[in-house]
Amino acid sequence: MKQNKQRKVCEFLMPLPLHIQENEGSFRIHNGITISSAPIFRDLAELARLQLTCNLGGEDILFKLSEGFSPEEYSLKVTRNQIVLSASYIQGAFHGLQTLRQVALANDNIIPCCFIKDKPMYSWRGFMLDCSRHFFSPSFIMKLIDVAALHHLNRFHWHLTDDQGWRFPVAGYPKLESIASKRKEIEYTKEFSYGGFYQKKDIEKIVAYAHRRQMQVIPEIETPGHASALLAAYPNLGCSKGPYEVQNHWGIFKEVMCAGNDEVLSFLDSAIGTLATLFTDPYIHIGGDECPHTTWEQCPACQKRMHDNSLKNENELQAWMITQIAKLVEKHGKRPIGWDEVLDGSENLGLPKNLIVMSWRGVEGGLKASQLGHQIIMSPNTQGCYLDYKHLDSIEEPGNLGVTTVQDTAQFTPCPSQMDIKSQAMVLGGQANLWTEKVVFSRQAEYLLFPRLSVMAERLWNPQPIESIENRRSSLEKKLACLDINCYRGNYQ
Ligand code: ACM
Ligand code: ZN
Repeated sequence: MKQNKQRKVCEFLMPLPLHIQENEGSFRIHNGITISSAPIFRDLAELARLQLTCNLGGEDILFKLSEGFSPEEYSLKVTRNQIVLSASYIQGAFHGLQTLRQVALANDNIIPCCFIKDKPMYSWRGFMLDCSRHFFSPSFIMKLIDVAALHHLNRFHWHLTDDQGWRFPVAGYPKLESIASKRKEIEYTKEFSYGGFYQKKDIEKIVAYAHRRQMQVIPEIETPGHASALLAAYPNLGCSKGPYEVQNHWGIFKEVMCAGNDEVLSFLDSAIGTLATLFTDPYIHIGGDECPHTTWEQCPACQKRMHDNSLKNENELQAWMITQIAKLVEKHGKRPIGWDEVLDGSENLGLPKNLIVMSWRGVEGGLKASQLGHQIIMSPNTQGCYLDYKHLDSIEEPGNLGVTTVQDTAQFTPCPSQMDIKSQAMVLGGQANLWTEKVVFSRQAEYLLFPRLSVMAERLWNPQPIESIENRRSSLEKKLACLDINCYRGNYQ
């Protein structure tokens, strides 16, 4: 009799685990299957019940507390009669559950027998969503967090402010909602306004949802540039005092926060204080990118600030501002992160060593920052990390500014060959970014994110070559379809 060849667990996983031993036979998950756990994994067992559609009670699937695993490490033993997931920490146990869930989704709940021992290569495995250029609903953000966590990603960088919209409340500043969160839609002859705002309860719900999935949330407040929305609401925070508009075009705007006005720092103190309370993870991103200095050159207050602090030029004024803002973040008990422009102008003044630098204009910013003693996160737009770029160089493809093929993402590494050992030691990991100037709807966001975000997750967990990724393409597409993700299905290279 002809026997169907048993399919292997490794066909169903992205990221691939570090060690995997495939065995004969399989375990079928169905709604009669029961789950038990050590007390520390009780909430996880409840999540497993929901994600795998089983029941709590018996020990068909067992979450076992074992000694000696690092925080994100786990093992998974699948036999014909039982699945045992072992970890020392909740993060590790969660990753084990997601590995199991991936196989269940890709193979109709049949889990081939195997033994897996797994842990990540990098601790920072991030993705960024720009919610200023276009507003995305809390339910879509939670859907993305869930699918990202399925791939063992563990950092959600939430871009909350920019020229085109401000998206979170700060007590005492009501115009952030009534003015800064809305822009004029100019594509119709009739006037429409476009916008959105995350209330405190939305943010708390998203953070709690992410934490249940072992995902930290990093809010970004853009400073001192990309600030048109803020200035439209509070024009006294700009150099010319306005009037300003929430922008309805894309690009870099010359109106930025006034570096000579103490009210700017007191506003930022309140805004950062709010973020520090709402977001309970250790980091706050302070932006720092693409800040023109033209208004500072003409502004008496900015020029006085330079004079009072013996700053030689506006570049040094920018470094001075970044230092003040980074100190505010530290005052509120968090660690600051900034885009690589934070280094510009800091040659003589230095920057707080605690500031983490996110390298986006290629890898040079990361290399330089690490040599100066900063920890770094690599997210270079030249190396497959910008997912707002088109999948292919084709007029038929949506996307903005550049091209990032799946193969480009599949070649990304946070430690490029020109990085020496000293710099490598400062690398926390990497991140993929989705800017949303041209991403109006969540379905478009999904198309740009997947499968490139799945591939990015593997690059940061356990990197594999493009051929291996191509071989797992159909199982990846099946998993993403089960989760209602509108995935790109064109060429990978
Ligand atoms: C950036 O892409 N402007 C950080
Ligand atoms: Zn000024």
